[in-house]
Amino acid sequence: MEIDPHKKDFLTLFKEASAQGNFIKLTLSKVFKTSEDLKNVYVVPVVIKGKNSLSFTYRFQTKDQVKNYPLEQAVVEIDNLLGVSFLQALLISNSQEHQLLISKKGKCKLLSTAKTTQVKSTIHNKEKNYFISSKNNIYLQKLGVCDATGRVKDKQQDKYRQINRYVELMSVWFDKIDHSKTLKIVDMGSGKGYLTFALYDYLQNQLNLKVSVTGVELRPELVDLCNAIRTDCGFDNLTFVSKDINDFSSSEIDVIIALHACDTATDVAIYKGIKADAELIVCAPCCHKQVRKDMGSNSDFRAITKHGIFEERQAEMLTDAIRSLLMEREGYATKAFEFISNEHTRKNLMLVGRRLKKSSDSSKIDRDIKKLKDAFLIKKQELEDLLA
Ligand SMILES: C[S@@+](CC[C@H](N)C(=O)[O-])C[C@H]1O[C@@H](n2cnc3c(N)ncnc32)[C@H](O)[C@@H]1O
Repeated sequence: MEIDPHKKDFLTLFKEASAQGNFIKLTLSKVFKTSEDLKNVYVVPVVIKGKNSLSFTYRFQTKDQVKNYPLEQAVVEIDNLLGVSFLQALLISNSQEHQLLISKKGKCKLLSTAKTTQVKSTIHNKEKNYFISSKNNIYLQKLGVCDATGRVKDKQQDKYRQINRYVELMSVWFDKIDHSKTLKIVDMGSGKGYLTFALYDYLQNQLNLKVSVTGVELRPELVDLCNAIRTDCGFDNLTFVSKDINDFSSSEIDVIIALHACDTATDVAIYKGIKADAELIVCAPCCHKQVRKDMGSNSDFRAITKHGIFEERQAEMLTDAIRSLLMEREGYATKAFEFISNEHTRKNLMLVGRRLKKSSDSSKIDRDIKKLKDAFLIKKQELEDLLA
């Protein structure tokens, strides 16, 4: 069958933007016919083992799946999806935006506009193809990730990958929220601030969004260090405060982040996000001691939990499943997925809640939570208690 000329032009624009290093992002939306519960596909440039590739995030109802393709294969995949699974595509390059609209009968229309603000491409920067470049990067130098020439230190390669993967994931989530106002972002348990700096840098300096980012951290020496680096970088809308998450209060939070905040600190952060009616809640839970303590020796699942490693994983699954249900009960759509490869850290689960306008069946969710708690003899779960 002859390919529609507008679709052909769109694919050529994607191919050219990618080959020339101008490609930033492509989004496929408006579901037409999909075999599964596929909602969107996001495509961004990545570098894998030194080679330029395109990373496809297939966003399903309850999970994300990531596949990487070389350029030629990526074009074929987009061609296959367009007009079959999706009726709309938005291609963002350094200087232009192109939108392809397809009717149910397959007729295509291509709309192109010049971008008013220049966004740095995440790929084919002269030196390296990362969301966050290490060249001339003051905070990565001061945090010891790279040296003065921008070379990432050998022992910091995993950290650098984690930073970039995090920003890549966040770029997809931020795409979905309202950018018209100044976004108030709070990072609970910001630690040494690697991820806080990188996200700020990406949103403020690459996407040119209006943001105000606060890192909340218990340890004053880390807060002092981060504030000094932030001054050196001239990151005026980023600040770090020395506070217990429990004592931090703000009714104005658009995005709440808690990455590897210890045990129930994650629950407190989620709670603060829900209470502030945050649009986005992003957490990478850490240890799950509270639920693990409770998982009784008399439960029907003793055969599983008698092994320490299974008990640990079970506690993790139960805690995060309950957190996810509670977020849903409070009106958030949730997703749980792997944040970074298992080989770098076991603490690689990311749980994201995006506020929905509609409410959910809270009594059914409460019953589901009760069933889980009863089965594993769990008496207490911090987020549930906070919300009670
Ligand atoms: C494992 S680090 C994670 C740092 C950073 N979010 C990351 O992922 O790179 C956890 C941080 O949370 C801080 N933290 C733990 N409980 C806290 C609390 N109740 N209030 C504020 N900070 C807390 C710790 O001091 C620590 O720096």
